[in-house]
Amino acid sequence: MQASPPSPPSPLAAGRYPEGGLAFPHRDLLAIADLPPWEILYLLDEAEQWVELNRQKVKRDERLAGLTIINAFFENSTRTLLSFEIAGKRLGADVVNMHAAQSSVKKGETLIDTALTLNAMRADAIVIRHASSGAVRLIADKVDCPVLNAGDGSHEHPTQGLLDALTIRTAKGRVEGLKIVICGDVLHSRVARSNILCLTTLGAQVRVCAPPALMPAGIEAMSVTAFHDFDAALDGADVVMMLRLQAERMQGQFIPSPREYRHLYGLTLDRLARAAPDALVMHPGPMNRGVEIDSHVADLAGRSWITRQVEMGVAIRMACLDVLTRRGRGVEGWT
Ligand code: NCD
Repeated sequence: MQASPPSPPSPLAAGRYPEGGLAFPHRDLLAIADLPPWEILYLLDEAEQWVELNRQKVKRDERLAGLTIINAFFENSTRTLLSFEIAGKRLGADVVNMHAAQSSVKKGETLIDTALTLNAMRADAIVIRHASSGAVRLIADKVDCPVLNAGDGSHEHPTQGLLDALTIRTAKGRVEGLKIVICGDVLHSRVARSNILCLTTLGAQVRVCAPPALMPAGIEAMSVTAFHDFDAALDGADVVMMLRLQAERMQGQFIPSPREYRHLYGLTLDRLARAAPDALVMHPGPMNRGVEIDSHVADLAGRSWITRQVEMGVAIRMACLDVLTRRGRGVEGWT
């Protein structure tokens, strides 16, 4: 275990966000690393109205009517793709999904040519997931509309960081000052990176826990405390966020066996007892039950917020699509 790093500055010290377009002065949403505290808070606050709408019988707002959103997914996805599609449709947009497996990408088309093709179709926003870190920024440089990063390699997954912060804020009333453990394959996880950036920016005390082979070198520079001993990391934690082993990004053997991994790093009911009595259990999905998380914990009523994360995901993506298309829609104060 390393010595605790100094606490990050309080986001409240930065004050509330400015008015209109200055509240979110970016064309794209590529990385949490690009966002100061008040821009994160702005998106979380905007998402609250969509949590409400999504609980109504009729879940419909027409502000994106006539707009075309393209979801270009070059990697598999269930939650992220579906929630971006639902988000766009609930705001009235026409949403088109491009699956790389059925596209010309399989015929050898370059990423840039695919980007130029999507651009020529005059999309009003493009949502991209790609296996290579940095690929989404590359596409953003080639197109004329807002681009949203739905996960690029092991780099970032900004809407996941935002939805997790919203879930924690909803459950606990705040993020600042909470002890949050992120445990699992931190090395390959874009979810871990975006969460670390988002939660430390909002003033949480983040502890990361992983076997030595799955811990990025120099992680302490991200204002977190690193642990290899999961029991020690859990001590008094307010939130426990579990990560999947990202086997698709591993070349070679990173863990002795799933059984051994569960023994040291799996979240069981016994282990959860080391955290605060009201600690939240979170997981971005997809879960490998019986490996990083036991079914009893994943389904623990009142403590597991895993399905609430999915609910918050739709609201966050509605907020991001709304905010990023405001300039294009000529919304007053955003032009
Ligand atoms: C994550 C992803 O794709 O990065 N899933 C998600 O978006 N909910 C995490 C994972 O695949 O393990």
